[in-house]
Amino acid sequence: MAEIDAYNEALKSGRYQKPDGLMGKYDNVRCLWEDEELGLYLRPYLKPAVGRKRERGERLRVLDLGCGSGDGFEFITSIDGSKSLTPEHNAKVMEPDMLGFYKGIDVNEGLLSQARAIYGGRGNMLFVQSDFNDHDLCSEEPYDLYLANYGTLSHNTDQQTVELLSNIAEHSKDGALISIDWLGRFSYEWQTLWTQDLESNQWMDYVISYIHSDAGDKEQLTYFPLRIMGRREVLNIYRQAKRKAGGGIALRKLADRSSFVGRHMGTGQYNPHCQPLRLVVNSLFEPHLCTDLDEALVRYVPRDGFTEVNAYHQRLADCWNHLVTHTKALLEGGQLPEALAEMPAPLRRSLAAMKGVVRAAAGMKIGNPRASLVEPQLAYCLRELEMGLQRGQGCGHGLVAIFEVVK
Ligand SMILES: C[S@@+](CC[C@H](N)C(=O)[O-])C[C@H]1O[C@@H](n2cnc3c(N)ncnc32)[C@H](O)[C@@H]1O
Repeated sequence: MAEIDAYNEALKSGRYQKPDGLMGKYDNVRCLWEDEELGLYLRPYLKPAVGRKRERGERLRVLDLGCGSGDGFEFITSIDGSKSLTPEHNAKVMEPDMLGFYKGIDVNEGLLSQARAIYGGRGNMLFVQSDFNDHDLCSEEPYDLYLANYGTLSHNTDQQTVELLSNIAEHSKDGALISIDWLGRFSYEWQTLWTQDLESNQWMDYVISYIHSDAGDKEQLTYFPLRIMGRREVLNIYRQAKRKAGGGIALRKLADRSSFVGRHMGTGQYNPHCQPLRLVVNSLFEPHLCTDLDEALVRYVPRDGFTEVNAYHQRLADCWNHLVTHTKALLEGGQLPEALAEMPAPLRRSLAAMKGVVRAAAGMKIGNPRASLVEPQLAYCLRELEMGLQRGQGCGHGLVAIFEVVK
């Protein structure tokens, strides 16, 4: 029957599933913390690159390495261009019409089928099943933006990554951008794996257990090795790639992403002290749902012998908890917490923002202002704390690196 076919087509498109902000691959943290934070790190470099293209009447070519379901397209076309409340607030750094050509490469045919079901109708998007390390960059026009997001290059050996980066540097034009994020070596989620011996402990045995809720399903899951990276290791790869390419590549940004909200916070699989903070932050972002703010407090347990790494996590936890406690007091009319001995600028800005939001929400009589206004803003402010305090050491679930080709 036509009706059945029609609904099956809609289902197959991947656009007919109920978005669930509280769990799953595209939960609120993925969309509103991780994608947006990545976008904020990339924006200062992507915006001028798009502007230069526009001036020349050209459009961008994008190569998405390990594209999965074509996630890179959604990511680059969703980066906000403006903070204004005017009609331009919807302007994106790169509107879809600025995309000349997008190629997504992945080894996984199932994910590529999903990508084709979503984007296959677009003439300027192509999905190819291949190992991106074997991809011959010289055989086609160079790209303007190379994406390898969400741990994709953690599948590679360092030698493969050096080769890939130096190839891109050699075969791309001035101003081309490369956005990578590896798994962070010192994420709290896998504190039991922290080590000082970086040479002999480069890989973790990873499992995508967080996506399954049934304990029985979890027992059957496949583990696979992923390279965990710290600052020193990224710099080492960068130096080697630069040497191999004879220069031509510059590291523009190195930043931690998803401290305390990584995927494995809820499993406790690699650190028994973890609390399900990703779930709590998903709930903060979720409209119409009130969250118990006591559950959002971080109980950070340090590990001896990691002074610098502990210092980052502890400082973030202190600022995070101060902001949460302060917001709770503003909402409930309780005593505000005493100022911390050190009040870093991102914390002061966040406290001021929350004061303004709670005051505005208090005057609203429509809807549920706590759930739909105050709590999402608290989640954004927690993200601001991470962005302001991180030092690109590998202390988040992801360690983001933005490179630029310079000729
Ligand atoms: C963590 S997922 C990231 C997916 C997607 N980029 C995203 O934003 O969610 C890593 C992806 O890289 C792919 N992958 C890993 N090694 C690869 C290789 N050598 N060549 C092509 N794809 C690869 C995997 O199949 C998987 O889809």
